[in-house]
Amino acid sequence: MNTMQENTKTPVHVSIIMDGNGRWARERGLERVRGHYEGIDSVRACTEAAVECGVKYLSLYAFSEENWNRPQAEVDTLMSLMVKCMENELPTFHKNNIRFVVLGNRSRLNGELNRVIDHCMEETASYDRLTLIVFLSYSGRWDILQAARKLALDIAADPSLAERLEQRDLSERLVTAGIPDPDLIIRTSGEQRISNYLLWQGAYSEFFFTSVLWPDFRKDEFRKALEEYSKRDRRYGKVK
Ligand code: IPE
Ligand code: IPE
Ligand code: MG
Repeated sequence: MNTMQENTKTPVHVSIIMDGNGRWARERGLERVRGHYEGIDSVRACTEAAVECGVKYLSLYAFSEENWNRPQAEVDTLMSLMVKCMENELPTFHKNNIRFVVLGNRSRLNGELNRVIDHCMEETASYDRLTLIVFLSYSGRWDILQAARKLALDIAADPSLAERLEQRDLSERLVTAGIPDPDLIIRTSGEQRISNYLLWQGAYSEFFFTSVLWPDFRKDEFRKALEEYSKRDRRYGKVK
């Protein structure tokens, strides 16, 4: 959805590229997966902080399409970690009125994970205090491509659609349909790149880069990012 958020202090949609788990572990002489485990506490902390700050959508880049190219053992650990996490957090979603959504190329996820995702999404579908979105097996180009594929099929069925195509026709076919574009995209760990994340949706997002590694990114860091966002002047190409 192309909603253009005017300058308000609190972003409606905060999105985080959670990066630096491996380096956090390496700094401590631990295996990379220990960084992923520790990162779960940061997810919890940021979810709480988002609710406290009045953010309506918090989305997290948890696993990219490119991350499938990591060593199989790390991929397997990450997938079973997702299952455990979702099972553990479901009571908290109920308690705190949190809608839980997973977006991405679900056909690549295993059956057990897909079942847990369906269960958590169905159970929390009516909640509206915060929508927590986890991007799993996601990439921006994949998203645009799958939307283009749907559009191509719809145009084949109704060729006149090609003549009246608008941006909205593509937006509505992205997996994020109905979700406002991110106002603020945070990336941890010092990397300053988009890594194939929300390429279409992030067209006018504000970016916040921090060298803090994801497992160290807790409530204070989240609030700091929002504080910085509140000082930004969003012009959307206009003159003010
Ligand atoms: C982010 O941490 C988690 C995922 C991408 C799954 P990394 O695993 O990328 O950690 P670094 O970047 O190697 O430190
Ligand atoms: C981006 O982190 C993807 C996620 C956080 C899920 P990566 O660690 O995979 O990105 P690159 O390889 O440094 O660009
Ligand atoms: Mg990384």
